[in-house]
Amino acid sequence: MQVAEPPGASSTTTETVNHMIGGDEVPSKSGRTFGSLNPATGREIARVAFGEAEDVDAAVRAAREAYERRVWAGMAPGGRARIMRRIGDLIRERADVIGAVESADTGKPLGQATAEVTLAADFFTYFATHAELPDGRTHPADAGYFVYSKREPYGVVGAISPWNYPFLLACWKTAPALAVGNSVVLKMAEQSPLSTAHLGRLVLEAGMPAGVFNVVHGDGPTTGAALVAHPDVPKLTFTGSTAVGKEILRVSSQWIKSVHLELGGKTPNIIFDDADREQAIAGSLFTAFYNTGQICTSGTRLLVQRDAKDSIVEQFVERARKIRVGDPTAPGTQLGPLISREQLERVTGYIEEGRRGGATLATGGGLVGSGAGGYFIEPTVFTDVTPDMRIAKEEIFGPVLSVMTFSSEEEAVRIANDVMYGLAATLWTTDLGRAFRMADRLEAGIIWTNCPHYLPVNVPYEGHKLSGLGEDLGVEAQNTFTHLKTHAINFGGGKLEWA
Ligand code: NAI
Ligand code: MG
Repeated sequence: MQVAEPPGASSTTTETVNHMIGGDEVPSKSGRTFGSLNPATGREIARVAFGEAEDVDAAVRAAREAYERRVWAGMAPGGRARIMRRIGDLIRERADVIGAVESADTGKPLGQATAEVTLAADFFTYFATHAELPDGRTHPADAGYFVYSKREPYGVVGAISPWNYPFLLACWKTAPALAVGNSVVLKMAEQSPLSTAHLGRLVLEAGMPAGVFNVVHGDGPTTGAALVAHPDVPKLTFTGSTAVGKEILRVSSQWIKSVHLELGGKTPNIIFDDADREQAIAGSLFTAFYNTGQICTSGTRLLVQRDAKDSIVEQFVERARKIRVGDPTAPGTQLGPLISREQLERVTGYIEEGRRGGATLATGGGLVGSGAGGYFIEPTVFTDVTPDMRIAKEEIFGPVLSVMTFSSEEEAVRIANDVMYGLAATLWTTDLGRAFRMADRLEAGIIWTNCPHYLPVNVPYEGHKLSGLGEDLGVEAQNTFTHLKTHAINFGGGKLEWA
């Protein structure tokens, strides 16, 4: 298989991508760099500055200084909103260029990567309104007293982002924090830092004052950990693995930081025998395999009602075999590679585990285009999976589906809830009563009936169990990125007589 570089990607091959600190693109103080690969070829496409504790500290100081000078938080709400909307407009205008870079850095099909960039623009457009929303209230009080409380920005927000939706998540994590007046230091995933360099420049071009939005590149144990441990970063927002989320909470306990976490999942995708079959199969293929299964809400456990199982699984497998995996720059490609060799090893390890554990490999399991250097893998379906198997319990983050059966709503709920995660659940049914009954009992932050992954930016959600902490999106995000301040005033309510 031949994989071509997409247009725009070549522009990143010679330059070194630097940090964005205080409005300047700067290398690491140590001069250290790392390579970012194209996972479709395994080849390095750019050098990137590797941030150490001193670089993270410089970024936090720039962010803190911008916050203390109130260049952003003190700006008129309408002015902040206008700049946020302008960022959204610029992202839309440049979606082709940024999308090409994103595709080369992550292996996403080019059209998909570009669509994600366009979607990312909506985060700035929508959250711009938060700059102008009322954010406090007054409280009933004694005569002669006036009491109000309002939400205030934390100051510096540290955002740590993963590689599965790099540009989209960079906007998702920072736009709501910026809208309410915080400064931000963003640490992008080391596998996919390139598109964020565009964001750093574009934010300045839109008129955001220097130092409000800072980007530091590097890995987790050095760069991410320095941001988490920095005493001047009272708020953290993280998307990634549950293991790292736990570590962030542990370190944060030293300063009692406020931590927002969006972690792993093992989403049950439940098909009842009354479902619209065609829609259920199409939607289940989408949620199991889209983005090569690298979504925290991927529907990776297919629960099928026993009587419908054989015909549904047969059609599902037949269509899974036809999914086009390959060159992300080719127009018909549906799935690109996994992000890295580590992920490929991790995913093939789970496939091996599924075989050894007694599940039946119905399709897939192999690598695609071996020799091309990319991390391509076939959409894989295991049947005869039991809820206790590791492939039924753990997040694989690849195109690997575990099929199980159930007889009753009761049994479906029991299997669905029998994992440590509680992020999302998908239902396929035409019985509305059943949808409400199931939604009440499923342990998940968001439930989709006949519409997997439906999540417009104005709709809030929150991970349950080990899938997360804190509210995301919607007007709720305003509370997530502010803390409360209360002011009581005695303007004639009587004198204090004590001692
Ligand atoms: P990860 O959780 O290690 O990395 C995510 C981000 O956290 C990256 O920016 C990384 O540099 C940073 N990070 C890592 N260790 C850190 C630390 N000690 N302190 C601060 N920041 C740190 O995820 P990884 O290793 O890339 O993928 C492993 C698994 O995690 C995947 O197979 C998948 O199961 C899960 N994952 C879940 C995601 C989600 O959307 N919920 C996204 C990415 C991964
Ligand atoms: Mg890359």
